Amino acid sequence: MDERARRYLAAMDVDVWALRRGGAGDSAADAPAANDIATLDWDTLAAGVAACTACELHTTRKQTVFGVGDRAARWLIVGEAPGADEDRQGEPFVGRAGQLLNSMLGALNLKREQVYIANILKCRPPGNRDPKPAEVVHCERYLQRQIALLNPAIILAVGRIAAQNLLKIDTPIGRMRGQRYTYHPGEIPVVVTYHPAYLLRSPQDKRKAWEDLLLARKVAEQMA
Ligand code: URA
Repeated sequence: MDERARRYLAAMDVDVWALRRGGAGDSAADAPAANDIATLDWDTLAAGVAACTACELHTTRKQTVFGVGDRAARWLIVGEAPGADEDRQGEPFVGRAGQLLNSMLGALNLKREQVYIANILKCRPPGNRDPKPAEVVHCERYLQRQIALLNPAIILAVGRIAAQNLLKIDTPIGRMRGQRYTYHPGEIPVVVTYHPAYLLRSPQDKRKAWEDLLLARKVAEQMA
């Protein structure tokens, strides 16, 4: 962590954490205590993520990708992890998949700025590989706090990695979509759909994704 980030965090009374010298980088002891994170407001949480060195991904990232959108949104979109474009720009879903996500939201009359968008991981896995379980363990507490702060009416999980990690199940995505799940804590409804990157490769499944979006809208309306 650079000195400026350290001073910034210290000024905000945020505990500073770092890898121990020679540590493997995936031990829970390197991460901030879950209790600390559970009390942070949006800005201190964002600063904590920006300074995070809890797993090896901090050594390869260009920057962290915290999340974007309306911090009072009713809709939370959860994806997998930043890709190369997101790593460069510091914002989730800005590449081709992001453009399709924007169109999917637009089909529901939702602008990107009206929802909140975040990922399971805040740092890009090199080569866009799947997140490792230890990385998810370290990182999910940030998303958990984002969800608690946002308290959305609906969570739309896009893709297998997002859905399985949010819901802690290993059901294949094809069997998860079309159903309503519940995220705990908070009893927040979750609808699962295909990842936009998958839909770019398999446009024949866009119709199913549209059905999922309509289900999500119906569930969100019921939460009004
Ligand atoms: N894919 C994701 O799951 N998240 C992003 O932010 C970009 C691509």
